[in-house]
Amino acid sequence: MANSTPDATVADATIPATMSAMLLTGHGDIDRLVYRDDVSTPRPGPGEVLVRVTATAKNNTDRKAREGLYPVKKGEMTSFAMGGEPTLVFPRIQGADIAGRVVAVGEGVDAARVGERGLLDFNLYPDARRDINLTPDYYGHGADGGFAEYVAVPSDQFHHVANAELSDAELAALGMCSYQTAYHMLTSAGVVAGERVLVSGASGGVGTALIQLCRIVGAIPYAVSQPEKAEALEALGAEAVIDRGELEAFAERVLEATGGAPIDAVMDLVGGEMTDRFIDTMIQDMKARTTYPRLSIAGASGGNISEILWTRIYLYQVRICGVSHGTREEAEQLIAWIRSGELRPVLHAAFRLSELHRAERYFVSRGSGFLGKIVIVPDAQWDAHGASFALAASSPSQEPRP
Ligand SMILES: NC(=O)c1ccc[n+]([C@@H]2O[C@H](COP(=O)([O-])OP(=O)(O)OC[C@H]3O[C@@H](n4cnc5c(N)ncnc54)[C@H](OP(=O)(O)O)[C@@H]3O)[C@@H](O)[C@H]2O)c1
Repeated sequence: MANSTPDATVADATIPATMSAMLLTGHGDIDRLVYRDDVSTPRPGPGEVLVRVTATAKNNTDRKAREGLYPVKKGEMTSFAMGGEPTLVFPRIQGADIAGRVVAVGEGVDAARVGERGLLDFNLYPDARRDINLTPDYYGHGADGGFAEYVAVPSDQFHHVANAELSDAELAALGMCSYQTAYHMLTSAGVVAGERVLVSGASGGVGTALIQLCRIVGAIPYAVSQPEKAEALEALGAEAVIDRGELEAFAERVLEATGGAPIDAVMDLVGGEMTDRFIDTMIQDMKARTTYPRLSIAGASGGNISEILWTRIYLYQVRICGVSHGTREEAEQLIAWIRSGELRPVLHAAFRLSELHRAERYFVSRGSGFLGKIVIVPDAQWDAHGASFALAASSPSQEPRP
């Protein structure tokens, strides 16, 4: 087999010249995702490692970027362009949360890394700063990601995670797109031990991360979700679960769950008509508070437009934090919590890379279905890393018709 990485310092001799990958060929529906087996295998540049992908977790952002659902002005159809120029160009290989093995290293990278199992910090950081990330972009969007057999990424962002108790699919399910966003939501709002935190979208990738992270920092998470998911969310760490389907007296039901104490900070992933109700849970009795009300928002699964009176925001002194991704420091803290076993994966099912269309349909139509993450496994890695998490083995009844 031809070795495509002659300029790599050290390379595993089995690296082929071409690989299978799912190419996103333009904005639109899932027919824009095209499976090919003749894509050039990337080469690790200086400071990079080449990773043989064993599992890549799916994120909502893959769908939203594909559909062009990231407007910052009314009427736009676009993707991230925080640095000024659009970075999503086609064809692009999506997939941000990558687990795999180092098979080659580029110039300046220690050859001892070959063979390491690791997890990618998915950010395309604009600079070396560790405590701020002003123009969030990521592998799978501004550069090729993990819906492929190989990917080249910065050595210092591919973190070694040896933990034998974690399978590669589970490691991908702990990916930074959800966990770093969740952690940055908490740090932006200055959440501290003992505080009551309302977590919306609680059963999703970011929501399940938030529940675990609240417990790690000593905060008390109250989950907004659906009744059929309550038991699993409480097992994950939720203090109580509030039904998002019942809008009537929403704030009163939250305060009943807290024993009357106000919510200290809201983690909003839902937006739309829910955001105003979430604010109610913090401001109903300002005399009962000891801190300003805080709202972190990182998603809008329930609608991109909310009608909120600004008077409510400034008279009640609500601190609003927009959150996108997070910082190097936060990613490294999360990796430390994965290594120490404090963060546990919430993995729902695995799909083969060639079946990404099926996985996309399942992901968007799962409404009342499941908790946590879906991972995509390259077909060549399926038996070793995907088969034991196949959907049929977990919950066949939830699969939608194509
Ligand atoms: N800013 C960032 O850096 C960043 C990073 C990652 C994700 N995000 C965004 O954050 C949001 C959550 O991401 P995710 O990956 O966790 O998504 P996900 O896994 O798809 O979970 C979303 C959850 O939101 C709830 N939900 C869905 N539709 C809803 C609706 N119409 N009204 C109320 N709740 C609804 C559901 O939970 P329940 O059934 O439990 O209510 C669902 O499981 C998305 O909007 C995503 O684009 C942003």
